[in-house]
Amino acid sequence: MALAKYLVTGAAGFIGRSIAAALLERGAGVRGVDNFATGKRSNLTGLDGMEFVEGDLADASVASRVCAGVEVIFHEAALPSVPRSVVDPVASNRACVEATLQLLVAAREAGVRRVVYAGSSSAYGDTPTLPKHEEMLPNPISPYAVAKLAGENYMRSFTRVYGLETVALRYFNVFGPYQDPTSQYSGVLAVFCRRMLAGEAPTIHGDGEQSRDFTFIQNTVEGNLLAAEAATVSGRVMNLATGERITLNRVVELLRELTGYDGPVNYGEPRAGDIRHSLADISLAKELLGYRPSVDFREGLRRTVEWYRRLGC
Ligand code: UD1
Repeated sequence: MALAKYLVTGAAGFIGRSIAAALLERGAGVRGVDNFATGKRSNLTGLDGMEFVEGDLADASVASRVCAGVEVIFHEAALPSVPRSVVDPVASNRACVEATLQLLVAAREAGVRRVVYAGSSSAYGDTPTLPKHEEMLPNPISPYAVAKLAGENYMRSFTRVYGLETVALRYFNVFGPYQDPTSQYSGVLAVFCRRMLAGEAPTIHGDGEQSRDFTFIQNTVEGNLLAAEAATVSGRVMNLATGERITLNRVVELLRELTGYDGPVNYGEPRAGDIRHSLADISLAKELLGYRPSVDFREGLRRTVEWYRRLGC
C-alpha cells in the first residue's frame, strides 16, 4: 500500500468513494475515513489499495489520526439532504459543522497543504437570480444549507487566520453510479432511476417544473482533482456544476426513454425547504481551475441508468 498522500473523508459515500477511486487509478496513496452514518461498506469494494479508518471526524482523536502525514484532503463527509436536516438539524450540524472544524484543526496541526471542501449550491437559497454566481450574497434556507455554508466559512477563516490552503467547491445536485437510491433522503435522480427501472411510479413533489443543474459525478471528481493542484485558488469558493438546468418533468421524460418505464407519474405536495430553480454560473471554476464539464446531463443519465440496471434495481 502506497503511503497516503491524500485523505478522503466520507470515503464510503457516493462522492467520496468516487474521488478515492480516481486517485487510486492514478496510482496515488489514499486514506479514507467514514463513520458509516450514510456511507456503505459495499461502496468500499474496488478500493482495495486504500487505507481505511472507521471513525467520526467530530471526535478530535479520529480527526488527528487521519490527518497524519497527508498532503491534501478532500472533505466529502457530511449528512446530506435538505429534508433530513429539517427533521434533525442538530445531527446535521454535528456532521457538517463540528466535524469540519475538528478536521481543520487537525489538518493545520498535521501540516496538511490543502483542504478541498464539498460545499453546496443550497447556500444560495431561493433567490430569483439565475444563474447563481459566487458574488451573490448567501441566503441559506434549510439547516443543511446553513451547516454547509458554515463549513465553507470555516475554510476561508482557516486560510485567512492560519494560512492553511483551502478551496470550497459548491456542488450542484451531483448524481451518478454509487449514489444510494434506497433512503427516503436519497437524491431525486437515484430514486427515480431505481423506481422506474423496477416498474414503479416516481413521485414528483409539486408540479415538476422545478429545475436543477444536475451534475454527473465524473465532472465533480475532475473538478476536485483540479482544485487540489490549481495555483492562486486558496481561500476561494466556486461553483462546480454543468451550467445547464432541467426540470423534473423533463427528467422523467428522458428516464422513460432510458428505462422503458411507461406507467403513471404521481404528483404530491411540494417539499418543505425546497427551492424552485437552481442553475450555476461556472465561469469562475473554468477560469481558476481550467474546469470543463466533460459529461453532459443526458450522457450522465444514460450511464447512471446503465449502472443501476446492472446493479439489478
Ligand atoms: C440539495 C442541494 C444540493 C445538495 C443536496 C444534498 C439545492 C438546489 N441543491 O438538493 O446541492 O447536494 O441538497 O442532499 O439546494 N423530489 C421529488 N421526488 C422525490 C425526491 C425529490 O420530486 O422522490 C424533488 C425535490 O422536492 C426537489 C428535487 O426533486 O424539488 C431535488 O431534490 P433532491 O434530489 O433531494 O435535491 P435538492 O434538495 O435539490
